Amino acid sequence: MKSGQRNSAALPAGRPGPGGRPVDPPQAGGQTQIMSVPTLQWLDPPRGPAVALLDQTRLPAEEKVVTCENVPELVDAIRRLVIRGAPALGVAGAFGVALAACRGDDVAAAARMLGEARPTAVNLAWGTRRALAAYQAALGRATEPEHHNQDPQRLAAGAALDEARAIAADDAAASAAMARHGLGLIPEGARVLTHCNTGSLVSAGAGTAFAVIMAAHQAGRLDRLYVDETRPLLQGARLTAYEAQRAGIDYAVLADSAAAGLLASGAVDVVLTGADRIAADGSVANKVGTYGLAVLAQYHSVPFVVVAPVSTIDFGTATGGEIVVEHRAAREVTTLGGQVLAPAGSAAYNPAFDVTPASLVSALVTERGITQPVTTGNLRLLNARPPQRKSAPADVSMEL
Ligand code: MRU
Repeated sequence: MKSGQRNSAALPAGRPGPGGRPVDPPQAGGQTQIMSVPTLQWLDPPRGPAVALLDQTRLPAEEKVVTCENVPELVDAIRRLVIRGAPALGVAGAFGVALAACRGDDVAAAARMLGEARPTAVNLAWGTRRALAAYQAALGRATEPEHHNQDPQRLAAGAALDEARAIAADDAAASAAMARHGLGLIPEGARVLTHCNTGSLVSAGAGTAFAVIMAAHQAGRLDRLYVDETRPLLQGARLTAYEAQRAGIDYAVLADSAAAGLLASGAVDVVLTGADRIAADGSVANKVGTYGLAVLAQYHSVPFVVVAPVSTIDFGTATGGEIVVEHRAAREVTTLGGQVLAPAGSAAYNPAFDVTPASLVSALVTERGITQPVTTGNLRLLNARPPQRKSAPADVSMEL
C-alpha cells in the first residue's frame, strides 16, 4: 500500500495537527506565521515509530499529512515529492534509517534504498549515511562492558534517532546562520527574484534562499519578491507563494519565461536560489531553469546568489559535468493537475535540475560565511572553517 493511501488525515484549519499542535487559519496582515503543519515529524510509539510528512504535492490546496510506517513508504513519498528539497531530504533520509532500526529491519538495505531514492540532491545520501554510521558505531559499542545490560539493537536504534535529530537541529541552525550572512548582500528596498522553493518546506529552519528573503523582509529591506512558477511541478507558484503569503511578503508569481523580460526591465536587484548539489568546482545543480536565470542575470549585470548549507557541497564530485541529473516522468510535462496538455503519446524532455557553472554565481552563502568568487580553492577554505554553532531559530517547521 502506498504511503499516500493510508494514515493520512486532511487537517482543516483550526483542528489539532500532528502532535496535537493546533492548526491555525492563515493570519491576515503582515505578520510572520509559522507553518500550520510540520514539514516532517518523528512519531514515537504508540503512534509510531513512523515519519509523518506534510504532503507537499497537495499544497497549497490542502494541508494533508502522509504517515510513513516503513522505509518503502518513505522512499515512495520521497520519489513523489511529498517531501523534497535538499536539506529536508537529508533529514528525511536520516529519520528513515532510524525508522528501519526501530522496526528491526535490515538497516543497511534500508539506507541504500533511501540514499538512492533521488539521485541529485546530495543531502539525501549524506543524511542517510550519517544516521547509518551512528547506528553501526553504536552496534559496535554495544559489546563494551558498560552496555552489557542493554539490548544492542535498541541502543543502536536510539543512536540513529539521536543522529537524525542532530542533523535536523544543525540544519535549523545553518538556516539561521545563512539568513544572517545573506542579509548583508541584500540592499535596502530590494526586489528579489527566486526560483523553485527554498523555505521552511525544505528545511528544519527557515530554509536556504528563502531564509535570506525572510531576513530581508523582517529587516524591512524587501520591496518585492518575484516568484518563478517553476514548471513543470510549480514549486514556486504552489509552495514559495504559499510560504511568502504566510509570511506577509509582497510577492508576485510569474511564468518562468517572463523572467527574461523582468530582468531586462531593471526590476530585479538580486536573484536568490538554493542548490541541490554543488560540485567541488563550484558548479551548482538546482531546479531546472536556474541555469537560464544565471545566464540572464549575468547579461543584465544582476547578482546571482546561491544559498546552501556546506552539506550541499559535494567534494567527491569534481565538476558539474559529473553531477547526475534526475530525469522524471514525461507526464509531469505533458499533463498539469491531471489535465492533458500535449497529444497522447508525446515524448517529453524532463530533467528535474540543471547545472550552473561557478563563473555565473556571484556569491555562495553558507552557514560558515559567504564565498565569492566561487572557486575550488575558496570552497576548500570554506570547508576548513569551523562550523558556527548557534541555537535554532524560533520558526522551526519540523517538530522532532
Ligand atoms: O525537485 P525538488 O522540488 O526536490 O527540487 C529541489 C528544490 O526545491 C530546489 O532546487 C531548491 O533550490 C534546492 S533545495 C533548497
